[in-house]
Amino acid sequence: MTSVAMQENKENIQQSGVYISTYGCQMNVNDTDRMYALLEMVNFNPVNRPEDADLIIINSCSVREKPVHKVHSEVGRYKNLKKTNPKLKIGVGGCVGQQEKQRLLTDVPLLDFVFGTDAIDELPDIVEKAYKNDQKIVRARFEHQKPYQIQTLNSNPGVSTFVNITKGCDNFCTFCVVPFTRGRERSRATSELVKDIQTLVKRGVKEVTLLGQNVNSYKSECGTNFAQLLERLAQDTDIERIRYTTSHPKDFDQELCDVMQRNREKICEYIHLPVQSGNSEVLARMNRGYTRQHYLEKVQMIKDTIPGVSLSTDIIVGFPGETEEQFYDTLSLLDEVQYETLFAFKYSPRPFTKAAKFEDQLSEQEKSERLNQLFKKHDEISFALAKKYEGQNLKVLVEKYDEENQRVSGRSTQNKLVHFSGESDLIGKTVLVNITEAFPQTLRGKRVEA
Ligand code: 5AD
Ligand code: SF4
Repeated sequence: MTSVAMQENKENIQQSGVYISTYGCQMNVNDTDRMYALLEMVNFNPVNRPEDADLIIINSCSVREKPVHKVHSEVGRYKNLKKTNPKLKIGVGGCVGQQEKQRLLTDVPLLDFVFGTDAIDELPDIVEKAYKNDQKIVRARFEHQKPYQIQTLNSNPGVSTFVNITKGCDNFCTFCVVPFTRGRERSRATSELVKDIQTLVKRGVKEVTLLGQNVNSYKSECGTNFAQLLERLAQDTDIERIRYTTSHPKDFDQELCDVMQRNREKICEYIHLPVQSGNSEVLARMNRGYTRQHYLEKVQMIKDTIPGVSLSTDIIVGFPGETEEQFYDTLSLLDEVQYETLFAFKYSPRPFTKAAKFEDQLSEQEKSERLNQLFKKHDEISFALAKKYEGQNLKVLVEKYDEENQRVSGRSTQNKLVHFSGESDLIGKTVLVNITEAFPQTLRGKRVEA
């Protein structure tokens, strides 16, 4: 939408409240920030409770959840609000909007509009039409032709914020709905990213997390790859810290490790490297493009190049046909790699995906048992790994102040959450903290005076 059209919208709509409920990954959280910022331009101010809103949006993820059920029950809760506030409009966006399109409007009569992942920037226009014409709207086309040109929009980016570098995914892992809900992979131009991050720096941002489904396959129109982009951002911007997520193991290479090591003052030594399974046959049926052996070789390359690197992963248990022995391979992989953080999920069949049609789907009980076993094993490993930080000095970027306990918290470069005594003036500063005690999820420390 042009700024003139935005301005016209602004004049048409009085100050109103908008409430967005968000489910899902960082990508979705980032999309919600963008929605709030776009809607603020047309006089919708964020409110904390649906009861105070004239506009409610459900931004829902469909990667692992049964989101349609969630949407049904959440909208059901707003039924009475529609009666008490006849102005109230309710919309559904994100992956679920993309996936369900018109069907959602037909099945959930209380809904006023549905929009997809490529229609977020049309939100002011969609909302205006919903109010003006009082008609139901669906906007869920993919913009396959247009280049991926956006500017990070976030009304309140804080100390640390997300910056999308790619959208979509072309990998088609057999369990994953993302290629269907977010479309083909597109990369933003390097020069735009440099500008975008400099603008964020001027607004006080100290740390950015570069976001994409598979950041390693970033490729700008000029041919810049992800390793080159990282180096350019580290050298040509004033951002203090750079993180990124998510990496695909098949595309993780020595060049990227070297760039991280060369620019270690800015690029955090934390890598999220989803493995999904520790068994090569399961990996082949998942269409992951690597074997257990290949994955372990990449991990070794990373550990050899980046001393002190901290690793995290995603694992799916109970993929169709996964045997006990194959699951044990996943357990033993935890021992070999020593992940500091684990995100693990029970396999859930997703629409359009190949694996949903595979035979030998496991029972919920089997999946739950394997998940518990996996978390139990990982808890022991991660606690032992956390203990090794005791006595070390870590660089912590302070993000929050807890007035009640007069302490602050922030993340170390290894992405560990650290608490220590301090005042609110430390927010936004990077300080050295000596770790005095490690807990399973967090570290406690004492500031080392400069
Ligand atoms: N079932 C369970 N977990 C899934 N993920 C993606 N699709 C599914 C699914 N169908 C998990 C993967 C991915 C993370 C974002 O979500 O582990 O890395
Ligand atoms: Fe999904 Fe695989 Fe793409 Fe990740 S790489 S978003 S798991 S299809």
